[in-house]
Amino acid sequence: MSSTPAPWFTHDRFGMFVHWGLYALPARHEWVMNYEKMPTEEYEKYARYFEPDLYDPRAWARAAREAGMTYVVLTTKHHDGFCLWDSALTDYKATNTPAARDLVREFVDAVRAEGLHVGFYHSLLDWHHPDFTIDGRHPRRDDTEEEIAALNEGRDMARYREYLHGQVRELLTGYGRIDYLFYDFSYANDHHHPVWGGKGAEDWGSEELMALTRELQPDIVVNDRLEIPGDIVTPEQYQPDRPMEVDGEPVAWEACQTINGSWGYFRDNHQHKDPELMIRMLIDGVSKNGNMLLNVGPTARGELDPVATRTLSEFARWMHHHERSIRGAGASEFQAPSDARYTQRGDRLYLHLFAWPFEHVHLAGLGGKVAYAQLLNDASEIPFREISPDVKPLTTGIGGQAPGTLTLTLPVVRPDVAVPVVELFLR
Ligand code: GLC
Repeated sequence: MSSTPAPWFTHDRFGMFVHWGLYALPARHEWVMNYEKMPTEEYEKYARYFEPDLYDPRAWARAAREAGMTYVVLTTKHHDGFCLWDSALTDYKATNTPAARDLVREFVDAVRAEGLHVGFYHSLLDWHHPDFTIDGRHPRRDDTEEEIAALNEGRDMARYREYLHGQVRELLTGYGRIDYLFYDFSYANDHHHPVWGGKGAEDWGSEELMALTRELQPDIVVNDRLEIPGDIVTPEQYQPDRPMEVDGEPVAWEACQTINGSWGYFRDNHQHKDPELMIRMLIDGVSKNGNMLLNVGPTARGELDPVATRTLSEFARWMHHHERSIRGAGASEFQAPSDARYTQRGDRLYLHLFAWPFEHVHLAGLGGKVAYAQLLNDASEIPFREISPDVKPLTTGIGGQAPGTLTLTLPVVRPDVAVPVVELFLR
């Protein structure tokens, strides 16, 4: 059984994911160590050159706030095992690089100073830790069977578990209130990509880890990737086509999305989603009771790249006028017309027009139910009427609509916003 996340989470709807770590230096995907099967010693060289002289988490947090996001989630440690905070349990950390300081501390302070909720992403996997056993997803998966057996001989997941729990304790006790935790991930029963030796709840000590998490931070929102239920489910890089359920029960969910398919900074990947597409994805999610966690992968110098900056400013421009169709809104019981999405907040119904029709849009089931309508971007009135079913279409007049249909009359010129929204005041 999933539990319910803290109310701010489902209310706010929109957060920023930040994938930042040593992989920003090779700048070719956060899984680069794995994809290129790099030996640990080779990958470690990036720690020697990690010098984020332009790191300014206040700038990240400000960009997030202006884009309408209310929480920011940072990778404290990714699968490569490198830690951005000053962990007492390892030397593989930011304090031992040219960065020479606790980068998580500065992040937490900055996010709080912007009035946002603080979130951590923490990898359950660790390709650097000497006790983490080799499995089919490890960079050394293609070593010979004998080599792997010999390596695993000396490795002990019980010791790794202790390390994992110890680090989570550090993170949840050393930085004040933490609002959100994204554990990543379990793959013992991954039917999409089955691998040998896949790890899950037993390996992580998930029940214990979840209990520890809630004991240290009672109000925290935790995801479901410990292979036991959490507060939210986390569809990754796809848009659910309906409100999500687990065992037939509705669940809170959050789609995490990238700008170009990679989470970490990837210099040569230019498969950028259009900002308008990402705005439609946010709307589409909210229309199905979901959140969106939109990722940025800052460069190794610590800055958001120009594409991320532009994306966020497009969100800012749109959210400036349309925040109230997102914040505090969710699915509506009404059925939106084609090329449109509804969100609803109390007696306000928001019609998001993904395509701009000529003049008329017909809303099934809303006849007699709307007191007033306006464009949200400039609060200009939108006239509406019901056209009786027996009206015949004429040379210059539209024909009747099904009973209960409300017909809006839109301006010919589409408002100059990423997605136009009509705000309907329900009776
Ligand atoms: C994954 C990936 C990853 C990314 C994440 C975000 O499962 O391993 O690199 O951090 O999901 O959801």
